[in-house]
Amino acid sequence: MMELSSQTRKLVILFLDTDKHVSPFEPLLVTDLFPDAQLLLYSNVEPKDVKRIVQDAMFPRGPEGVKYTKMFIGGYDVKKVEEIVEIVKKTMFPPFEFTVIVDPRGANTTAAAAVAKTLELSLKHGLGDLKNKNVTILAGTGPVGVATAILYGLEGSNVILTSRSQERALNTAQRVNKEIGAEKVKGVKAATQDEIGKAIQKADIVLATGAAGVRLLKLDTLKKYGSRCKVLADVNAVPPTGIEGLKPSDKDKEVLPGIYGVGALRIGSLKNAVLAELFKLAAKTPKGVLDYKAAYEIAKKMIKVM
Ligand SMILES: NC(=O)c1ccc[n+]([C@@H]2O[C@H](COP(=O)([O-])OP(=O)(O)OC[C@H]3O[C@@H](n4cnc5c(N)ncnc54)[C@H](OP(=O)(O)O)[C@@H]3O)[C@@H](O)[C@H]2O)c1
Repeated sequence: MMELSSQTRKLVILFLDTDKHVSPFEPLLVTDLFPDAQLLLYSNVEPKDVKRIVQDAMFPRGPEGVKYTKMFIGGYDVKKVEEIVEIVKKTMFPPFEFTVIVDPRGANTTAAAAVAKTLELSLKHGLGDLKNKNVTILAGTGPVGVATAILYGLEGSNVILTSRSQERALNTAQRVNKEIGAEKVKGVKAATQDEIGKAIQKADIVLATGAAGVRLLKLDTLKKYGSRCKVLADVNAVPPTGIEGLKPSDKDKEVLPGIYGVGALRIGSLKNAVLAELFKLAAKTPKGVLDYKAAYEIAKKMIKVM
């Protein structure tokens, strides 16, 4: 990848958000990283708007200047974000290309941080890397759960992804398997504690990716069914948290004998660091799409396992 030698021109970042209001999260983070950068914010972005915005961003600064133009694509609607990314990729052509960061509602960077943190605990407690490990992702049908399932699948883990709905579990697993090009993820309905227990029975690693304020796994269920489990992680920082006995600030807590956990705030601070590094990487590289793969590479470097 060619690197930009020096910042001779102003950095300009276009934020395209599918939501009604552009999330201030990433623009605020960038303001501290690059105080001199110009930020252009677009809300309510629909796929039909994108070709024109991209074309109007490609040409005014010329082939050299366009390397200092960047784009961030976010929003809650992951499918719409994916559609927009495809349009952006199809619209750009050499030499009028710029770097694009994709992180719908923070899902890619959160997933990268969560998977890297479980890898860190797995290595630390003698379980080894993620290849051939059994991983259960509780409530894995949201944006964060899907991105973690993709990353575990790419690492060679055998994944069970749960949902309260059998149909959503199966559809999500199918979507993830298609994305990774292998049958690594199985969708399972788990709504009751008994069903959740059965879904974690063979798991080495359990990650909770449920909605904010939803308790998914009770301690009694973990005691009854979690005899194989060594690593726990939760991305929900809003009480009640996803896993009983695991607090958001826990970084390597022995929740039960031999079962170590990392909480949502620890994952969240790695996520913020990964996002900042993604923007720094985008600033110094002239083109390319930085998505969950780039985020995960950075997260792994940050926990020093590469
Ligand atoms: N630290 C960070 O920076 C950061 C960034 C982004 C997100 N997060 C956190 O990561 C978590 C996942 O985010 P997300 O956007 O992927 O979540 P989401 O889409 O809001 O929810 C994930 C899944 O939770 C399940 N769920 C919803 N309500 C439930 C209920 N009452 N009982 C049981 N299951 C329920 C749903 O699965 P089914 O309907 O299929 O059962 C849903 O697909 C959230 O807790 C969020 O706060 C953290």
